[in-house]
Amino acid sequence: MPFFITFEGIEGSGKTTQLLRLLEYLQGLDYQVVATREPGGCPISDSIRTLLLDPANDEMASRTELLLYSAARAQHVVEFIKPALAAGKIVLCDRFSDATTVYQGEGRGLDRKKLEEINEFAAEGLTPDLTLLLDYPAEEGLQRARERNQVGNLESEGRFELETLTFHQRIRQGYLDLATHEERVYIIDALGDEDVVTERTISVIDRFIASRSSA
Ligand SMILES: Nc1ncnc2c1ncn2[C@@H]1O[C@H](COP(=O)(O)OP(=O)(O)OP(=O)(O)O)[C@@H](O)[C@H]1O
Ligand SMILES: [Mg+2]
Repeated sequence: MPFFITFEGIEGSGKTTQLLRLLEYLQGLDYQVVATREPGGCPISDSIRTLLLDPANDEMASRTELLLYSAARAQHVVEFIKPALAAGKIVLCDRFSDATTVYQGEGRGLDRKKLEEINEFAAEGLTPDLTLLLDYPAEEGLQRARERNQVGNLESEGRFELETLTFHQRIRQGYLDLATHEERVYIIDALGDEDVVTERTISVIDRFIASRSSA
């Protein structure tokens, strides 16, 4: 049952936490499932990740940023995601093209039409079967992400955590707007403890798998 499932949401909304829990849940049900993330997922894309998230690169132009994310995605799709789907696996991916639509569109103000074309090109037309949007207030999300970076020694990946609160509020709203016109995007209320959010996530996945199995 090859499904491509992506996780989206602002910084600190709990994407990675929930993805890992869902991985465990699906493995427990004996599905063949792999987890990956963007930017990254393979050596070339991991090198691009370092460039993209390094706070020292605060002079990166918006178009450079867009093209680097897209380059990382192109390699990730060809080298990792498509082969895994072809092998019949469920792929769980931490961020994908929607992040480009929202961060480079809402966040950086780049042209939507152009972003759509570049996304399509980079992903070779691949779109997720299901997208879980973890919706969480920007201020609290940023706070969580900054604390996590300090504790986990992840400051080298904190370029977006340095953006203003209004930037992240625009991103949250951009994701919510996306969910209103993309049927595959499910909004998950990410407020509450990890177990409560996991229950919400699992209930969406269970319904999704059931609907695909009976189709
Ligand atoms: N429901 C929750 N309640 C309390 N803390 C949480 C919850 N979910 C995640 N956290 C904690 O908040 C921090 C951020 O969570 P996580 O790394 O999963 O977010 P993320 O969406 O992947 O962030 P980023 O976009 O920066 O990668 C982590 O330290 C995590 O342990
Ligand atoms: Mg994460």
